[in-house]
Amino acid sequence: MPDEKREITLRFLAQPTDVNFGGNVHGGSAMKWLDQAGYLCATVWSGRYCVTAFVGDINFHSPIPVGDLVEVNAKIIHTGRTSMHIAVTLNSCNPKQCELSKAIHCIMVFVAVDENGTPVEVPSWEPTNETDISMEEYAIRIMDLRRINQKELEVLKK
Ligand SMILES: CC(C)(COP(=O)(O)OP(=O)(O)OC[C@H]1O[C@@H](n2cnc3c(N)ncnc32)[C@H](O)[C@@H]1OP(=O)(O)O)[C@@H](O)C(=O)NCCC(=O)NCCS
Repeated sequence: MPDEKREITLRFLAQPTDVNFGGNVHGGSAMKWLDQAGYLCATVWSGRYCVTAFVGDINFHSPIPVGDLVEVNAKIIHTGRTSMHIAVTLNSCNPKQCELSKAIHCIMVFVAVDENGTPVEVPSWEPTNETDISMEEYAIRIMDLRRINQKELEVLKK
C-alpha cells in the first residue's frame, strides 16, 4: 500500500456557525471535524466504508476563535485485522499570522465494514522509522488502557 494513502489533511475556516457564545469553536463542532478527518483517512486506506469504534486520549490544548484557519491531520499509526488506529491532530492559527499551533489531539479507531456492517480485513501498515514505531507503541498502549478501564468499570457496575 503506498505510504501517501496513509495520511490526509483538511483545511478550512472556523465559521460563525461553528462557535459558542464566547466566540470560540464548540467542542462538538471540533469533534465532528476530527471524526470526518479520521473517517476519510480510514476509508482512503481501506477502500471500504468505515465506522468509528473508539475515540480516546482527547485533549483540548487551546481555544479556536471564529475566523481561524483550521488544519486537521489524520494519520494511520497502527492496523489490526479490520481496525485502523489513527492519530488525529487539529492545528489552528489566525490566517493573518499563519503560525499553526496544536489545538486538539486524539486517537481514533475505525473499523472497515461490508454492506451488512460486518468487519472486513484492511491492508496492514508497518512502521519503518523510529517516530512511527513509537506512534504504533502509543496506539497499542491506548488499547491496553482501554481494556484496563473497561475491566475497572465492570467492577464498579456490579
Ligand atoms: C465497530 C464494530 C463494527 C465492531 O464490530 P464487532 O462485531 O465488535 O467486531 P469484532 O469484535 O470482530 O471487532 C472488529 C475490530 O474492531 C475492534 N474494536 C471493536 N470495538 C472496539 C472498541 N470499542 N475500541 C477499539 N477497537 C474496537 C476490534 O479490536 C477488532 O479489531 P481487529 O480486527 O483489528 O483486531 C461494531 O461494534 C459497530 O458497528 N459499532 C458501532 C459503530 C458506530 O455506530 N459508530 C458511530 C457512527 S460511524
